Order: sequence, then C-alpha cells, then structure tokens
Amino acid sequence: MNKPELLVHFTDQDAARALRADARAGLTDTPKWLSPKWLYDAVGSELFERITALPEYYQTRAEQQILQQHALGIAELSDAGSLVELGSGSSEKTRLLLDALRKNETLRQFLPLDVSESALGAACEAIAVDYPELDVRGIVGDFTTGMTGVPAEHRRLVAFLGGTIGNLLPNERAEFLTSVRGALTTGECLLVGTDLVKSQDRLVRAYDDAAGVTAEFNRNVLAVLNRELDADFPVENFTHRAVWNAEQEWIEMRLRAEAAVSVRVRELGLTVEFAEGEELRTEVSAKFRRDRVRDELSVAGFELRRWWTDEAGEFALSLAQAR
Ligand code: AVJ
Repeated sequence: MNKPELLVHFTDQDAARALRADARAGLTDTPKWLSPKWLYDAVGSELFERITALPEYYQTRAEQQILQQHALGIAELSDAGSLVELGSGSSEKTRLLLDALRKNETLRQFLPLDVSESALGAACEAIAVDYPELDVRGIVGDFTTGMTGVPAEHRRLVAFLGGTIGNLLPNERAEFLTSVRGALTTGECLLVGTDLVKSQDRLVRAYDDAAGVTAEFNRNVLAVLNRELDADFPVENFTHRAVWNAEQEWIEMRLRAEAAVSVRVRELGLTVEFAEGEELRTEVSAKFRRDRVRDELSVAGFELRRWWTDEAGEFALSLAQAR
C-alpha cells in the first residue's frame, strides 16, 4: 500500500478567515443569512450522517440506488483513470464508483477533495487500505474555489454527489461549473447529483423531520458561531424552519428568533439585533428539473451525456462531458 499523501490548499487559518468574512457579511445583511458550509463542524457532520438515515430524507438512498444500477455505465462512458471526488470521500457511494472503474480496468488514482483535513486523512487511509493498488492523494480545499491544483496525470472523472450543488445560489453555481470546466480538458467528465422538484409537502418533511434531527443540525450552526467567534447566541431561543420557495424552486432552512435578542459577536466586534420572529437563513437547497441541469451544464461548457434517476424519480445523476 502506498501511504496516502495530503496536499493542503486550504488551512485552518483560511477557514477561520472565511468564517469571519461570511459571518460579518451575512449577519449585517437584510434579511440575515449564513453560508451552509459552517453547518459541518464535528457535531454537525455527525448530525448530517443521522439525517441521511431518516425515513423522510430520501436523497442519500436514491442516489445510492442510481449508483448501484449505473456505476458500470458511468465507468465505461468516462473511461477515467482518476476519480476526483468533491466533498468527503470514504462513503459507500465512492466505493461503488471505485469498484466500477476498477472493473473497467482504467482506474489508477483517487483524489478526494475536502475542507476538513482530519476527515480527509481518515477517508484516504480507509480507501488506501481497501484499494492498495491506487495512488490516493487527498486535497484539502474548498470545492467552491474550484479544482485548481488538482493533478491531471490521468483522464479524470469529477464526482460531485449528494445534491450539494443545490447549496450554491444560481450565480455561484454558474461560477463553480465554469471553474470545474476550466480545470478539465475536452472529453473529461463531471458526475453531479441533484435533488429534483417534487411536492412541497414531501420536500418540507425532508427538511423538517419528525425526530427533530434536522432542527438540531440547523441550530448547531449557532453553537459553531458561539465557539469560533466568541458569540453569545441563545441557541435554545431559535427555532428551526424549512420553507419551500416555489418561485426559485429551492428549500430554505432558517432559524427564527422566538424573542427579540441582542447578540454579541466578540471576535467581530459586532452586536447583532434580532427582532421577535426575525429569521436567519442558514441554507438554500435547490431542486432541479432536467432541462435546467442540461442548460446550466451547457452554458459552462459541458454536454449532458446521460441522465439517470432512481425508480421513484426523486433524485438524478447527470454525467456531463467537457466540450
Ligand atoms: C448535503 C447539502 C445535500 O441540502 O439536502 C440536509 C444538507 N440540509 N438537511 C441538503 C441538508 C438539511 C444536504 N446536502
């Protein structure tokens, strides 16, 4: 087994600086917002893992089902020697892709990219143990800043799974897809998972589960701010809300201040006033239709080659090729 290597493009200091800039921008804006990336500290990542097993949260199972059925087709079409995974890469889904690429006899390298150095290190070790012939190199980086510095020694397949692309706003999505395209050469592929538009009822329940795990996941971001920015959010006075925006076709997670409160964010030298009932938006999760996915890919310089959904038609995987 080759010892997995870590390339660090994003340090703890970069993350701390980004959090301060984001928090200042979002908490002083009207309406208030925070970037969803701060939901994933150790506690938040654990809570998200629990969300993926909830009866209401179909996305993870649906995507898994598609990969189980079509990983070989993906491997054949992409003919990749290198799997680049944006976001954590030790999951069952990653292994389905690696196994299919190995069967296709093209696989040489696995390049997972993640902001969390510790999560990435553990993921790399686990994959390296089970795929001893693979050149595994973890890249500590922020996927929104694209793929600069990702090695191009083999023909690449970039996987961006889980529907995380839906967390980007439309302009951010366009920028992201364009930057990924810019890092690829013609013929290389992008595999992207997207949740699909469906009934408001089902969507809201997926983001406001009966057991309250998503509520806990959402509120945890305030604990992150309290710890990282020396703030004093009264976490228990904020309630979880999941709202369907029919015009934009996205779900918003919000935190509602149940009473007026003045929050001190000492690290920023900032006092933030919440009126009673005021809401802080903590996540946008866009839901897609096939035409929108095809058009957005096309504008960025990709051709949509295949579109697969799970049997219930709730989630889609798109295989796009750089033109
Ligand atoms: C992992 C970003 C795809 O948007 O559905 C789960 C995160 N938020 N429940 C999503 C999430 C609330 C999830 N993504």
